[in-house]
Amino acid sequence: AALERLADEIRRAETVVALTGAGISAPSGVPTFRGDDGVWEHFDEGQFTYGRFQRDPAGFWDDRVALHRDLFGEEYEPNVAHEALAELGRDGHLEAICTQNTDGLHLDAATGVGGDGDSSQSHSSTDANATGSETTVLELHGNAQRVRCQECGARTDADPIYDRAENGELPPTCDCGGIYKPDVVLFGEQLSGAAIQRAQALARESDVFLAIGSSLVVTPAASLPRTAAATGATVGIVTLEETPLDDVADVCCRRDVTDVLPRLSSLVTRD
Ligand code: OAD
Repeated sequence: AALERLADEIRRAETVVALTGAGISAPSGVPTFRGDDGVWEHFDEGQFTYGRFQRDPAGFWDDRVALHRDLFGEEYEPNVAHEALAELGRDGHLEAICTQNTDGLHLDAATGVGGDGDSSQSHSSTDANATGSETTVLELHGNAQRVRCQECGARTDADPIYDRAENGELPPTCDCGGIYKPDVVLFGEQLSGAAIQRAQALARESDVFLAIGSSLVVTPAASLPRTAAATGATVGIVTLEETPLDDVADVCCRRDVTDVLPRLSSLVTRD
């Protein structure tokens, strides 16, 4: 019944916005950060800060290679939850996806590309990436399949750079001599103001705001559902575990995203 209600609201809404986190990619095999067997149980969060990158780029990269291999060592494909959101977008029911994930799977789902990168991903992490569907994908934390030169700003495919680092080029550098940094937001690094503002504006504009597969403890994700609720949106939260924002949600579905989202999408799009 809760899902039916959410589907009705989505059908009637002018603007629907989704915020996603690691939980939506977990069924694709991508490890989550927190919770059972989360990445931060195997790696020390403190080694991957922006401060460490600046102080000790060689050591940072040495550790980062191991983290990257753990996170992205295999190729992932979008799952039915990513696809359900892409379908909602194609049907005109989803304005934007703000994602904390750096795996690029929303873009893959929207463009029908599996695994590999695609030219539409070569945008700045702060850009809203037009995906060919109606839906804007805003990668709030960047994209781990790219690195960016800290000197000239050039972005390039991450794979060969990780290979070079693994082969002893620590830290890996650009032709211009600048040091590469993974094109993701590190702890202690500011998210781009433009990306935050865009996400906040979307939250304010939304009539329905869906928070999916996120523990909602890292800002700005932690504040967006509250902003949406404060400006009158119906807020739905879909995660396995409780979140600190459950009290602002109109609907909480504590179930697997691969269960909930295809059902929601078919409820919304049925004739
Ligand atoms: P977390 O790992 O903190 O939370 C994942 C959430 O997804 C948890 O609440 C789980 O209950 C839920 N979950 C896992 N599998 C699920 C499934 N199959 N169906 C439904 N829910 C499921 O991930 P995020 O909230 O994305 O930041 O983490 C936020 C940020 O913290 C990340 O972007 C990263 C991390 O440190 C940076 O790297 C800057």
